[in-house]
Amino acid sequence: MKSHNKVILITGCAGFIGSALAIKFLSNNYKVIGLDNINDYYDIKLKYSRLKNIDEIKSKSGDWKFFKSSIDNIKELDKIFERYKPDIVINLAAQAGVRYSIENPTSYMRSNLEGFFNILEMCKVYDVEHLVYASSSSVYGEKKDFPFNEENILNKPLSFYAATKISNEMMAYSYSNIYKLPITGLRYFTVYGPWGRPDMAPMIFSKNIISKKPIPIFNFGKMSRDFTFINDIVDGTFLCALKSPLSNLKDSNNNFVPNKIFNIGYGRPVDLNYFIELLEDAFSIKAIKEYQPIKPGDVEKTFADTTNLEKWVGYKPKVSIDNGVYLFAKWYKKYLKDLP
Ligand SMILES: NC(=O)c1ccc[n+]([C@@H]2O[C@H](COP(=O)([O-])OP(=O)(O)OC[C@H]3O[C@@H](n4cnc5c(N)ncnc54)[C@H](O)[C@@H]3O)[C@@H](O)[C@H]2O)c1
Repeated sequence: MKSHNKVILITGCAGFIGSALAIKFLSNNYKVIGLDNINDYYDIKLKYSRLKNIDEIKSKSGDWKFFKSSIDNIKELDKIFERYKPDIVINLAAQAGVRYSIENPTSYMRSNLEGFFNILEMCKVYDVEHLVYASSSSVYGEKKDFPFNEENILNKPLSFYAATKISNEMMAYSYSNIYKLPITGLRYFTVYGPWGRPDMAPMIFSKNIISKKPIPIFNFGKMSRDFTFINDIVDGTFLCALKSPLSNLKDSNNNFVPNKIFNIGYGRPVDLNYFIELLEDAFSIKAIKEYQPIKPGDVEKTFADTTNLEKWVGYKPKVSIDNGVYLFAKWYKKYLKDLP
């Protein structure tokens, strides 16, 4: 396969989405620079295993370099940008998780606000062709007009995590407006699948179901999420990143502002009880359910309207919840077996 000249910088590349995206770019013969500070928000062994998966692909194709480095350290970032001059930057490095932002807001301040600002600055200074960054469905807060549309005005974040993601969208817009930096924000909707995050429901539930421990079900089970399989997220992000410069984007005052924001979800809310049933089937074990009130910062329902992304890059999610949970559970069983 012909190799591409473009250099792609992926931050958060040891994370769930970042590692899968690095594999996608490498498999398509791009040069990829990965950066991650490997923080211990969850088990770092999982992060190193994901990096090992990337190394295995690299030996077959692509061109890959990894740096253990933090986006909140602008001096280190500057060295990497200076040396590799990335064409496209995909910023996935962030402190994720709604609930943890109640306990440790400082970590969100550093990575999601200061770190994100550093990324914007570097992209401006090194004249990056396109910056893509992760926003989140949590920006919609308590909005009830389903499905969520990108045009909704968002100024009531329910958690500090959501506040940092709304802030990222504002910061990005201002850089696109003033410096004409082409930027795309992607509002990811509950991503699940192999190599997922241990702090999210699919892994917490699976762990407890298998070890016959109760699973906590918040809001007494009245919850639904637009669960989106990792491959669909990766494909959508890949297509957006390569969409060449966001030229001719004018705002309502006819200003040229190369800035876009898209929902990226499956486009169908799934009842949490149904999600649990699928896991029970996959593991052939009945879950012990422990119903609890809703947690502060949590939202009841998410539901993405993905029409705009479909029009922009032809995004069409392919993996149904039934198939996705089956694939996730198959991976999880093997992952547990392979644990030392
Ligand atoms: N997974 C989801 O369902 C979901 C939903 C909405 C938005 N997002 C967003 O997508 C992005 C990726 O999420 P994920 O699920 O892969 O999370 P993840 O925690 O698995 O990956 C994030 C990675 O970034 C790294 N990181 C954190 N702070 C850093 C810093 N300051 N410098 C360098 N690296 C740093 C972490 O070590 C981690 O490996 C995040 O921005 C997250 O907020 C994820």
